[in-house]
Amino acid sequence: MMSEFQIQLVTRDEQVLQFNCLAGEDIVSAAERAELYLISQCRSGSCGACIGTATRGQYVQDIDPDIANSIAHTEQVLLCRTYPRSDLQVVLPYDANQVRKQPLPMRQATLLEKNYLTPDTLQLKLQLIEDEDGNLSLAFEPGQYIEIWIPQTEIKRAYSIANAPNWDGVLELLIKLRSHGQFAQYITEQAQVGDVLTLQGASGNFTLQDRGLRPRYFIAGGCGLASVMAMVRQMAELQEPHEVQLLFGVWREEEVFYQSELAELAADYPNLHYQICVQDATPTWQGFHGSVADAFKALMQNTPTTPDIYICGSNGLIERVAEVAATFNISKDQLIHEHYGAQATNTSHFCQEDSCSMPYAVAS
Ligand code: FES
Repeated sequence: MMSEFQIQLVTRDEQVLQFNCLAGEDIVSAAERAELYLISQCRSGSCGACIGTATRGQYVQDIDPDIANSIAHTEQVLLCRTYPRSDLQVVLPYDANQVRKQPLPMRQATLLEKNYLTPDTLQLKLQLIEDEDGNLSLAFEPGQYIEIWIPQTEIKRAYSIANAPNWDGVLELLIKLRSHGQFAQYITEQAQVGDVLTLQGASGNFTLQDRGLRPRYFIAGGCGLASVMAMVRQMAELQEPHEVQLLFGVWREEEVFYQSELAELAADYPNLHYQICVQDATPTWQGFHGSVADAFKALMQNTPTTPDIYICGSNGLIERVAEVAATFNISKDQLIHEHYGAQATNTSHFCQEDSCSMPYAVAS
């Protein structure tokens, strides 16, 4: 008789989910047999969306050696490639309400607009088509992402939604175009306004955390601005009373985009203060000269508060911001971050640019 192991998942809000996993079966698949749809994307051990922390039991993982090395010093596991050898307990970095009871819905959307913000940054606007129940809008939380397929292929990529939830069924995405990328090639050379695209979502746990009125600082690098824009736009719509600082960083002035969007947002939402940071700025640059980590440090030197920090950017950016935060005694659980460009986050998204879909930006 085939062995079965009992899996116990403990969510961030301390709910316990239990199901059985067959020998040789991965945990994401076993959860789905029990109609529990865990956060996952690539299902091949490369994106990191399904990360958890094993706290009890024996298991083996079948993952890329580089990724294995990056998490080897911890008990972190990628559940889509984790095979139990005993009963197992795993702590998830998200709440129970993010474990769906049915698969994410598939939707169709018409390409409404395709706008180059810089030579390698594309803004897409999509108009959702009503689903079979007559719903036009898509339920999502600001900061989440959708996956989009290249038509007539199995190739899909994930992008964060840059606008706030709305009833009009319009989704705004920011795409960093990489040369030779399949999606980049499709979207720049073939996709036409009016084309119908298939998408799935929304998903992801890089979302606003309810922590009272503690100030919220948002730090974004490049197209990592998408998820941050969605969060701040939502806060602006609700005129939330928090103090909000937004730091948006790029390397060169010609890479800056969304200047007018940020100015409009700040005009509508007096609590919002923002700075556009250019690392290699020319003397005439009117914004901050330096990195977002430098700007963050300067901000912290002038504030008595310890804000929650939402970071969306490269590993290096997250690390530098975390280092600055540590010098101001900001605890790690006040850093909420999503990785943009290569690997993981405490909200669990890796990106392997050439192999999988990445939330919020990279078109490979
Ligand atoms: S879903 Fe498990 S690593 Fe991508």
